[in-house]
Amino acid sequence: TPPVPVRHYLQFKDFSADEYAYLLERIWLIKRKFKTYQKHHTLTDRTLAMIFEKASTRTRVSFEAGMYQLGGSVVHLTTGDSQLGRSEPIEDSARVISRMTDIVMIRTFGQEKIERFAAHSRVPVINGLTNEFHPCQILADLFTWLEYRGRRADGSIDPQALRGKTVAWVGDGNNMANTWLQAAELLGFKVHVSTPSGYEVDPQVAGVGQGEFWQVFDDPMEACRGADLVTTDVWTSMGWEAENEKRMKAFAAWCVTPEMMAMAQPDALFMHCLPAHRGEEVTADVIDGPQSVVWDEAENRMHVQKALMEYLLLGRLA
Ligand code: CP
Ligand code: NVA
Repeated sequence: TPPVPVRHYLQFKDFSADEYAYLLERIWLIKRKFKTYQKHHTLTDRTLAMIFEKASTRTRVSFEAGMYQLGGSVVHLTTGDSQLGRSEPIEDSARVISRMTDIVMIRTFGQEKIERFAAHSRVPVINGLTNEFHPCQILADLFTWLEYRGRRADGSIDPQALRGKTVAWVGDGNNMANTWLQAAELLGFKVHVSTPSGYEVDPQVAGVGQGEFWQVFDDPMEACRGADLVTTDVWTSMGWEAENEKRMKAFAAWCVTPEMMAMAQPDALFMHCLPAHRGEEVTADVIDGPQSVVWDEAENRMHVQKALMEYLLLGRLA
């Protein structure tokens, strides 16, 4: 295989709308092959290094299982069991790890850490969640949305089908909210954002403009009005545990309830990146109810990341 220039996936806007159109169709092909037990060994002999500085269930399992399904292998590192936890500089870790592996996934705290790693890496680096962004999750959410509401007559997914739709974001102005905004700006849909005061999205951090593609609502019920998709996330993200008690009080009205879902379109979907806390950010009857697509959303992480690793290492495939 000819080498492709090294590119990283550190935030959603690192790829163009045209690249997403390719990737979304590719994910559909990769998923179909998985579901019909067809081998898809495009990354034989390639190794993924995964570095976790925060906990994970979905990200770890989906990257690890996905890489094996592509014919490659995986090295799993955490802060606690590597020299990263004993203050070896990020730059040195990047130089070493990227000389022995073909691609790296990192879950860490500040975005600047992953940027520093990427700047010293010989191989592509993927953001598996930072304080600021969670691009793999949003790509999985978009794919899931298309599977449910963006199919062509032949059953394939139409990447253009999200144009003009509306997402309601109910909750914290966090990594997921920031990434939804980047996706909306790039792919032409709208986000209604409702956060408690003091937890707003900062467009500077989110890396987005102030255009019409997002609108702020004080009342979460109003944010949900007419939405095609309602989504939320934990009230306390990893790294903010010390604020938990304060957040429980501030976020009490930002629980996605059946009443909120009733404000949205009758066929609106509910999404949550998980892990979920029933009775906090969402009621059990919503997340376990008929509009919720959270299990497909979680599974799709794997199909999405297979396509992403393939794209970063091999470029576009016919
Ligand atoms: N949604 C998500 O990234 O889950 P994990 O924290 O379990 O990886
Ligand atoms: N916003 C959450 C997402 C977890 C997948 C966090 O950063 O902890």
